[in-house]
Amino acid sequence: MSNEFKEIVKEKVKEIQQEVYIKKEVLEKIVGLFLSLKDGRFPGKKPPKGLLFYGPPGTGKTLLMKTLAKKLDLSDPIMIRGPEIISQYYGKSESRLRQIFALAKERAEEENLAIIFIDELDSLAPSRDLTKGELEPRLVGQLLSLMDGLEKEVSKGHVVVIGSTNRPEALDPALRRPGRFDFEIEFDPPDAEERKKILKILLNNYTKGQYENINLDEIAEQTIGFTGADLLQLLNESLLQAVLEGRDFIIQKDLLYAKNSVKPSALREFHIEKPRNRSNEIENEDIINRIKQVAEDFSKKPHFKPILLTHDLSFSEKIASTIAFMTCQRLHCPYLVVRATWFRTRWFGEMEKSIRKLFERINRLQPCIVYIKNIDAIASSGNEHIHGAILELLDNLNNFSDDNTKVLLLCSVKDRNMLDQEVRTYFKESI
Ligand SMILES: Nc1ncnc2c1ncn2[C@@H]1O[C@H](COP(=O)(O)OP(=O)(O)O)[C@@H](O)[C@H]1O
Ligand SMILES: [Mg+2]
Repeated sequence: MSNEFKEIVKEKVKEIQQEVYIKKEVLEKIVGLFLSLKDGRFPGKKPPKGLLFYGPPGTGKTLLMKTLAKKLDLSDPIMIRGPEIISQYYGKSESRLRQIFALAKERAEEENLAIIFIDELDSLAPSRDLTKGELEPRLVGQLLSLMDGLEKEVSKGHVVVIGSTNRPEALDPALRRPGRFDFEIEFDPPDAEERKKILKILLNNYTKGQYENINLDEIAEQTIGFTGADLLQLLNESLLQAVLEGRDFIIQKDLLYAKNSVKPSALREFHIEKPRNRSNEIENEDIINRIKQVAEDFSKKPHFKPILLTHDLSFSEKIASTIAFMTCQRLHCPYLVVRATWFRTRWFGEMEKSIRKLFERINRLQPCIVYIKNIDAIASSGNEHIHGAILELLDNLNNFSDDNTKVLLLCSVKDRNMLDQEVRTYFKESI
């Protein structure tokens, strides 16, 4: 790549970051790919033809696509939504797909590069093993053969298909093989530093720019688990708050106030709770001392610490809350409360996925205190139905390491003998 090209890529990345915050390294790759394809200077014979944008809803997948097209002067991507192809063109879904690809091929020949963006790809191409419908397997097959055919059929130029999904695991695995959607880009919920950047973008784009007095660090720190879309909702709520108070600009108080009514989407199933000091309800000196010790140890040096709480549920809850209270006072970290029974209500096969999701979130939130109520719901011995869940749980616990994982994991179960033997070995300590 020439230096000049490198400079252009950098410049474009900066421009795009004014509209949507995506990590620089990721953006550079995408921008480099598209610009080189557009000018016909991509050095390889077989450039990627399928990109997969995956990550939770509201993390900027659709916005990035739109911004890329605008800022790179690409001709409008052909945008389709998975659910639309299925419902709106019922009976004609496959031919609709063929039409779209035909249009893209024509465009590629005229303009070097054509982009098809399939939003909610999972609804159009779910795993063929799991779906019950007749249409979906046919559509998956059609999409695969259209993508496979692109190389031969496009004589000049290039077609890139971008699929977007918040459930990558639900996609038919054939879609993710080499030569198909093999260029994967993950959209994580933003961390505090990134939330600050997104807040700035949103304030620039959605207000009149009067926000000098706002302490963005404070808002960013207090919005753990918020996606970009959640932050936008937060901003809208606070603009409304300002209006109600007769101002035409927002102040810190509006944002903090709005925070109470916007629940971060990343945490909708698992609740961040405000821990309370309930030591006066515990009345057992030994237990109180243990609680203090655990809180002290973890606050001093956060590390992976699993502890079983083996009392009846309401008593365990008091212990967990008090430990969290004492720890959070010093570490200012979140207290995540999970009901393990919730996993049992998931569809068959979904239980494992939900457990995986929980651990992904724990990983992103750390340092944190996690309280899993009734862990026996997913880890009791002698229950065939939850065998998969146990394996998933063990797998995730194995990934936690003493030094690199900053998680205080409290799990309640009435009697530790109820637990699967292997799970039990993880919990050397109990209170
Ligand atoms: N990374 C981000 N940077 C800036 N704004 C964002 C970001 N992520 C989400 N948003 C805001 O949330 C809105 C919805 O995001 P969207 O792109 O539709 O999410 P997705 O397609 O991943 O579900 C965007 O229009 C934008 O206002
Ligand atoms: Mg979207």
